[in-house]
Amino acid sequence: MERKVGIIGVAYSKFGVRNDVNFNELAYESFKEAINSSNIDLKDISFLIVSNVGVWSSEPLPAVSLGEYLGLIGIGTLRVEAACASGSAAIKIAYDMIKSGEHEVIAVIGIEKMNESTTPIVVEMIGRAGNYFWEFENFGLTFPGYYALYATAYMNKYGAKEEDLCEVAIKNHYYGARNPKAHFQKEVTLEECMNSRYVAWPLKLYDCSPISDGSATVILASEDFIRKSGVKEPIWIRSIGASNDTSNLSKRENFLSLKATVEAADKAYKKANIDKDKLTKIFDVIEVHDCFTIAEILACEDLGLFKRGEGYKIIREKQTYIGGMIPVNLSGGLKAKGHPLGATGISMLVELVKQLKYEVEKQRQADIKNGLALAHNVGGTGHYAYVTILSR
Ligand code: COA
Repeated sequence: MERKVGIIGVAYSKFGVRNDVNFNELAYESFKEAINSSNIDLKDISFLIVSNVGVWSSEPLPAVSLGEYLGLIGIGTLRVEAACASGSAAIKIAYDMIKSGEHEVIAVIGIEKMNESTTPIVVEMIGRAGNYFWEFENFGLTFPGYYALYATAYMNKYGAKEEDLCEVAIKNHYYGARNPKAHFQKEVTLEECMNSRYVAWPLKLYDCSPISDGSATVILASEDFIRKSGVKEPIWIRSIGASNDTSNLSKRENFLSLKATVEAADKAYKKANIDKDKLTKIFDVIEVHDCFTIAEILACEDLGLFKRGEGYKIIREKQTYIGGMIPVNLSGGLKAKGHPLGATGISMLVELVKQLKYEVEKQRQADIKNGLALAHNVGGTGHYAYVTILSR
């Protein structure tokens, strides 16, 4: 029989441009807080998993370096990379290792120091992660360009306007402004968003997530350990659904959806016995992968929260704020909280655990009725997708 797996400690560091700390110190910021919140001893941790893309920073063996720095030696470690979904992939491995009975407590740390490189280098390295030979080398396509293709297809089919994309940025900056750990803590207006410079038409500066440094830590434990050690209020992982899609965009069916998200969500709903017709009534709060504003609209539709082509209208009506149909990205999302790739998926779980326990700032605290939350994390343009369901 499968064992239940709970989350007993969480934290993320301040996200942003973090030239004030080195790689290990940045990871320690979230690790220390997560350990303190879990009330466990370092010796309880029997494995360390590190999520890090790292092609822009100096540390080639992050799991080894962190093991030494954090005093986690002699237990076993590995580094996980699944592009922007690295964090969720790392959580999935830890979850399976505990579920199988092999481990009781595992620390999962996501860390990225992207600002060790300049914007052109970061944009190139992420661009190479699309489809290197056909799309990057031959056509020079980079990520703002990829998501611009999705945005233009969506706008053409459903009539959404650039203003509608900006509504996602306005909401996420609104909540980011209320999250002291967010990369950007300032609100933006429609005018500011519309007047910001084009990066890849129709996407402007405020349609893009930033290049961020940051770390996030989640401590996972088995139900047996949780019961024995008397940890109060664990948050349970109800299910994780994963899928992947082609590297080459020309092999995708259309640009109106990320198929990997639809499949990952289906698997997660099935495993957790979630009624797909009542999603906005079931989940109290969700975090989705808004690497670009169009991505949040597609995510809400791909997860089945809203009908196809309706997402932008519902977002325009402010139904994804607190008090609306379903609150989305109350952390500020990737757009305003920031997007340090390896830390992102883990920070989504940190945020949702804190939401479910009423531990976030009052102005961005969701009303928790059913005690259920969902995290959606994409790598590439749907190359990888993970959907994780949490419950109190
Ligand atoms: N949103 C809002 N403001 C941003 C921003 C963003 N995404 N990126 C930078 N800024 C702000 C900076 O804080 C800075 O403000 P200041 O002048 O008040 O200090 C200003 O804009 C210029 O910043 P800079 O770092 O010089 O911008 P840049 O031109 O080097 O980079 C982008 C801007 C959009 C090109 C870069 O953020 C980017 O490539 N984002 C996408 C990252 C990505 O693809 N991630 C993976 C997604 S799957």
